[in-house]
Amino acid sequence: MTSPLPVVELRDVSKSFGNVRAVKNVSFTLPRGSVLTILGPSGCGKTTLLRMIAGFDAPTSGEIFIQGQPVSSVPPYQRSIGMVFQKLALFPHMTAAENIAYPLKMRRYDPATIPGRVERYLQIVQLSGMGTRRIHELSGGQQQRVAIARALSFSPDLLLLDEPLSALDKKLREEMQLEFRRIQQELAVTTINVTHDQREALVMSDEIIVMSDGAVQQAADPVRLYREPSSRFVASFIGLTSLLTGRATKIQAMDVAIQVGNMVLKGRTADETIQNGAWVECALRAEQVRIFPAGKGFAEFDNALEGVVDQQIFEGDRMVYQVRCPALGDAPIFVFDHDPAHHQFHQKDDSVRIGWNAQDLLVYACSDA
Ligand SMILES: Nc1ncnc2c1ncn2[C@@H]1O[C@H](COP(=O)(O)OP(=O)(O)O)[C@@H](O)[C@H]1O
Ligand SMILES: [Mg+2]
Repeated sequence: MTSPLPVVELRDVSKSFGNVRAVKNVSFTLPRGSVLTILGPSGCGKTTLLRMIAGFDAPTSGEIFIQGQPVSSVPPYQRSIGMVFQKLALFPHMTAAENIAYPLKMRRYDPATIPGRVERYLQIVQLSGMGTRRIHELSGGQQQRVAIARALSFSPDLLLLDEPLSALDKKLREEMQLEFRRIQQELAVTTINVTHDQREALVMSDEIIVMSDGAVQQAADPVRLYREPSSRFVASFIGLTSLLTGRATKIQAMDVAIQVGNMVLKGRTADETIQNGAWVECALRAEQVRIFPAGKGFAEFDNALEGVVDQQIFEGDRMVYQVRCPALGDAPIFVFDHDPAHHQFHQKDDSVRIGWNAQDLLVYACSDA
């Protein structure tokens, strides 16, 4: 029988450094085998949270449980946790195999079993045959793989990743994201991953917690987080999102009319507390907006307006436009055209029309109202 206990549980955990409240009342549970990503901007408390789980820092208040046991008095080396940080901290004078063997020696594994285990983990990270190489004889991506193997070779209950990919170039980073996902699924190791990279969070996670300023903003699976962001902050942190401020003029269940500049836009809200006349903030994903040459009809959209192209960026598989709409007070609207090969390219200063549907204009109460 496997234990039904969550591998990790945080109950109302806070951490202050003097006057700085780095982590505020964070609670979550992490089921066995799942990957949780803590996503948020630099300084929002991600590393502090991981350090408390690893046992390097104690919470100011609240309690952390690992396998159902409170761990406040358990030192880091007695927690069954593997870690990979941005600075890989591999031992440069040792070979790849010696690095991977190190945690096994520290934990007094039977020496006869160590070479077999090291070989198995070299294989898992696809470095078979490279065990005798020294760290400086390996590429950045290969060093990353050694660090993963070293963190996992002793079969920890939990793997903690603190932005280990952030120093890599884009292509390698995206490759390693998929590698982490593959290895995690192969070994079914319970993982907490910390990043400020939204794509990495969406690709790697079963569950994402978005943090800002020490507090949890939203916890949801990637699809729900992307489709139903609970606040303007979450909406703008994930995806390319245009933000508009306006006043609610008419509210009917979830349908809202919003006065923005000279326009009345149609939007959708999940917030029942929004009153007629209240200031609201609207978020609009770039992929939900369509763009047409000036004068072309687009009667099918709930919101349609004239604009001028301020910027166009060709990204190969898509064109990204930034469109200025005078009727909205010149607020920029971002537009993806995902099929640029089959559409007309619009140049800077071209007059265009843009349109989108009410359900894609997400309306939130003004956070500072
Ligand atoms: N040892 C410390 N002493 C004082 N302040 C700290 C310490 N560690 C972190 N902080 C502060 O706590 C906040 C959260 O930091 P951190 O957890 O490193 O954020 P993140 O990893 O999300 O970038 C920041 O304001 C940071 O300056
Ligand atoms: Mg950090």
